[in-house]
Amino acid sequence: MSGERKPVTLPRLTEMKEAGDPIVMVTAYDFPSATVAEQAGVDIVLVGDTAAVTILGYEGTEPVSMDELVMLGKAVRRGLKTPLMIGDMPMGSYEATNELAIQSAQRLVKETGCNAVKLEGGGTSVDRARAIVRAGIPVMGHVGLTPQSANALGGYRTQGKTAAAAAKLAEEALALQSVGCFAIVFEAVPAAVTEAVVSRLEVPTIGIGAGPATAGQVLVFHDLLGITAGRLAKFVKPYEDIRGRMIAGVAAYAEEVRAGTFPGPEHVYSIDPSEIAELNDYLDQESLASQSTWDWEPLP
Ligand code: KIV
Repeated sequence: MSGERKPVTLPRLTEMKEAGDPIVMVTAYDFPSATVAEQAGVDIVLVGDTAAVTILGYEGTEPVSMDELVMLGKAVRRGLKTPLMIGDMPMGSYEATNELAIQSAQRLVKETGCNAVKLEGGGTSVDRARAIVRAGIPVMGHVGLTPQSANALGGYRTQGKTAAAAAKLAEEALALQSVGCFAIVFEAVPAAVTEAVVSRLEVPTIGIGAGPATAGQVLVFHDLLGITAGRLAKFVKPYEDIRGRMIAGVAAYAEEVRAGTFPGPEHVYSIDPSEIAELNDYLDQESLASQSTWDWEPLP
């Protein structure tokens, strides 16, 4: 894929949904992952709060701070030209009041250059989404498994598994749409529930563990490339084993350093032999050897 494509805009996402062209979204957390997403030709890049887990080593997304996501977002921005860039609003940056939500969204946009923000859940998040949209910042909603509320949801579990739970999820999605969210993520929802709900929504939906009915799909960069260590969620398809390849690469390097075979002749800089001869003559001088013990005097 070349960088010739036009930047992806909100109207373009609507067009894609209407034309039935699947929307491809992926997370990115730094400059290299952003350039990979750019070159692979994805449509949307999310600087997700999953950074807490994927690159900062926390167990869940709750601890990541706004300062951390801003730093990562700036790096992602430097690597992107084409995809729409979305900044995830970390836990604690929007729930308390509409004013806080607007300030946090403005900070993400101003400091990282993202095109839109994402927040999780229905309920008060609907009010926060409305406030941010009214302040002129596009908002992506997120329903189903909302990891910031994993404790309240009883862990990382599939959501909407009863008619009542699925109806609540549908109401949240409809409410987020009604306050102006331009798209909504469905996470860990039975495929049949997704199908029933998305057919009643106008905005594009992006699924992660929500089946094929959404207008697009999102996966976490480290999961889809097989960089994540340990167990992956059922909905993840690892397309590569980059972690395995990275370990093999570093192990091969370590082996060669220990065997004395790295660096080889092709990895060293050369110098004219006459220059080295002159250097050795200089270093062999008696007077130089006598200077090898530094005779210093303390400064006054
Ligand atoms: O933070 C994140 O990466 C997300 C995606 C999984 C949608 O919210």
